[in-house]
Amino acid sequence: MHLKEAGIDEGISEVIVTTKSASGEPNAAPIGIIAVTNKDENNYFVRLYKTSKTFSNVQETHKLAANVTNDPVLFVEAAFEPLSESQFSLFYDFPVLKEANSWILFDCVFSKKTNGSENFLFQLTPLAVKINRKEVKAINRGLNAVIEAAILATRYTLIADNHEKDEMKKMMELYADIVEKCGGRREKEALKILLETLRKSN
Ligand SMILES: Cc1cc2nc3c(=O)[nH]c(=O)nc-3n(C[C@H](O)[C@H](O)[C@H](O)COP(=O)(O)O)c2cc1C
Repeated sequence: MHLKEAGIDEGISEVIVTTKSASGEPNAAPIGIIAVTNKDENNYFVRLYKTSKTFSNVQETHKLAANVTNDPVLFVEAAFEPLSESQFSLFYDFPVLKEANSWILFDCVFSKKTNGSENFLFQLTPLAVKINRKEVKAINRGLNAVIEAAILATRYTLIADNHEKDEMKKMMELYADIVEKCGGRREKEALKILLETLRKSN
């Protein structure tokens, strides 16, 4: 099954992954869906940190849904806080995000440990796809910069080395400048949430 129409293309596509625990509690987190193209066939994977809720949920239920969205606020919220119940809907009885442009429900099977034993690679098999809305959007550097800043911010709290932390702060300032210059309202709002979250964790 090719997922290009639903927004997942070659390389790594940043989406919000929704999962549920064995007891049915939903969770959402930004995760990269890795597409490896071999001749005409695509293989899909995710690499998950073992400390994440997403990791424990897929260990329990062996499924995840990719929610394709361009909303930077949703990315930042999903990265740092639990989303509210009203933000979820159901697709084949599985939690997905109401506002997403498309949903892809995947079967998710453990493949191997990577990067020592910090990361675990899972192979994904698409089970069902729904396209809610087709969005045509030009590249916005502000959006890209918020996503980069959000990735840095999720790593920042895990890093102990002060030199590395200082380097990250410098990069964060660069991304913040790009958001201010090129971003729209949603990008600026996302950056505000991000900086506030970092300030509280310091
Ligand atoms: C754009 C973006 C992409 C990310 N990609 C991944 C990923 O591929 N794998 C991963 O384990 N964490 C990834 N993260 C970090 C997780 O989203 C973050 O650790 C999150 O807090 C995990 O939430 P959870 O504990 O609810 O699963 C990414 C973060 C961002 C902002």
